[in-house]
Amino acid sequence: MAFADLFRKKTATAIINEEGGTDHGGGRLKKVLTVTDLTFFGIAAILGAGSFSSLGEAVFKGGPGVVILFLITAIACGFTAFCYSEFASRIPAAGSAYTYAYASFGEMFAWIIGWALIMEYSIGNIYVAFSWSDYFTSFLSKCSIHLPEYLTTSYMEAKHAIAANTTNEELIAAWNNAPVFGDYKFIVDIPALVINLLITYLVYRGIKESRNFSNLMVILKMVVVALIILVGGYLVISNGLTFNWTPANDAGVHSFMPNGFSGVMAAVSGVFFAYIGFDAVSVLAEESKDPQKDLPRGMIWSLLICTAVYILLTLVLTGAVNYKHFDGVGDPLAFIFEKDNLNIGWMQLLVSVCAVIAMTSVLLVFQMGQPRIWLSMSRDGLLPNVFQKVHPKYKTPSFSTIVTGLVVGIPILFTDKKFVLDFTSIATLFAFVLVCGGVLLIPRRNKEEGKFHLPYINSKFIFPILLIIAAFLANHYMPDFFSGMSDINDDNAAYKVPMLLFFVLCIIMAVIAFIKNLSLIPLLGLVFCSYLLTGMTADNWNWFGMWLALGLIFYLSYGLKNSRLNPNRKPA
Ligand code: ALA
Repeated sequence: MAFADLFRKKTATAIINEEGGTDHGGGRLKKVLTVTDLTFFGIAAILGAGSFSSLGEAVFKGGPGVVILFLITAIACGFTAFCYSEFASRIPAAGSAYTYAYASFGEMFAWIIGWALIMEYSIGNIYVAFSWSDYFTSFLSKCSIHLPEYLTTSYMEAKHAIAANTTNEELIAAWNNAPVFGDYKFIVDIPALVINLLITYLVYRGIKESRNFSNLMVILKMVVVALIILVGGYLVISNGLTFNWTPANDAGVHSFMPNGFSGVMAAVSGVFFAYIGFDAVSVLAEESKDPQKDLPRGMIWSLLICTAVYILLTLVLTGAVNYKHFDGVGDPLAFIFEKDNLNIGWMQLLVSVCAVIAMTSVLLVFQMGQPRIWLSMSRDGLLPNVFQKVHPKYKTPSFSTIVTGLVVGIPILFTDKKFVLDFTSIATLFAFVLVCGGVLLIPRRNKEEGKFHLPYINSKFIFPILLIIAAFLANHYMPDFFSGMSDINDDNAAYKVPMLLFFVLCIIMAVIAFIKNLSLIPLLGLVFCSYLLTGMTADNWNWFGMWLALGLIFYLSYGLKNSRLNPNRKPA
């Protein structure tokens, strides 16, 4: 093996020519999706557990100021969406960031991204399945159907909660009432398992059926989210609750960011999770009628719509109820309509139903995305041939779809929400950084009629100037931002080391931008996504590092030998 093999690249032409060409007992995927379908897919993937579930914890940490984090994250995702669009318009083939990395960074990085995307698509779906189960169970209980708590809770969540002396009655009941087999308590989230099974079946049956189902769910959830914003917003204003937007913190100081900017940044996993999904649109390239034009539009439209929704939802939430009351609230959008809050019973029920619908569509889109990435990796020889098997009748990647169902389903038995949320967010941000970096690496091209073209803005002077302005503003509005960084030996060292590395990255990028005239949009995407990574804890980094190491072992022992770019590869 030569070291250079790790960085062998595929050309865009080769990728497009291969599209559908190496099927394994099936044929090409059907080209049926329009720009409206793609936008719907984007919204279907984006709007889900992030807004219906993790928003509560995010607001509790950061207060109304979380709106700022939503804006920063939207900007980061917006720049990244432009980069995805640029790649998707050059390489309209399935596989998302993985395929793009193959053309820009080379094989090893492509593999690393493909490996990280398992976190986004499969592990992310575990979080959504858990949240789906929470809302489904609470919907059932509003209809007076009560399942035992040990059948609607994950084992790890109950175990951790008991160890932390929780006061949550449901978790205590789950732990105390569970049947015991030897040393093991039988606590398992059955609704999460069942929804995963149903979704896997639907995806296996085919794209067209899934598309119709998904579009219907998106319309329904948009209508209900609009209703939450209108009814909740009206009540916040008419009941004179806007004082909640500048609540008092523990020291009695009133502020839009009661826990400071660090409180806002502590919510980064949950907020970023809410945005994950716009990129899933790009894995549907092979099934789009006109991918070069429609993919970018679908992605950017869905991102814009969801950003507006999040900002309005956060304002309604934090206006309706003091931010401190969201501690441990897993169904925040229903919570604000409870008796002690805005007190509208029918909204509570409606929100539970809508949450179940919203999260079903998220599950569907991600469960469709994962097999399509594996299909591409298998075509390249980095995964065994069986992953590219297309069902002869349904024209779906059948084997990969079943494996995805197992990868989501089995960990439901032994993980919990917090773990999978952090894991998903760090891996996805990492992939986004590489996609933006990839666009910086590929050569510029001339504008072609009818195709998306990333506008080129020379960052030579603009980027260093923006950095100086940002540093000035940070110092002005958050006086301890820089002075606090000088001492990395205190308790917050784990947070400060990534921040110091971020400063170093900014300076290096400013120098490269000056010398190489880098394109501004991907450069800002890279910097914003790297900034969000500084909000991740040391624990997250450790787990993610281990996952990457495992992936590299797999690549070095299998993919490197079997890659189609390896001239000495033995035919399968
Ligand atoms: N953004 C998706 C959600 O919030 C993953 O459920």
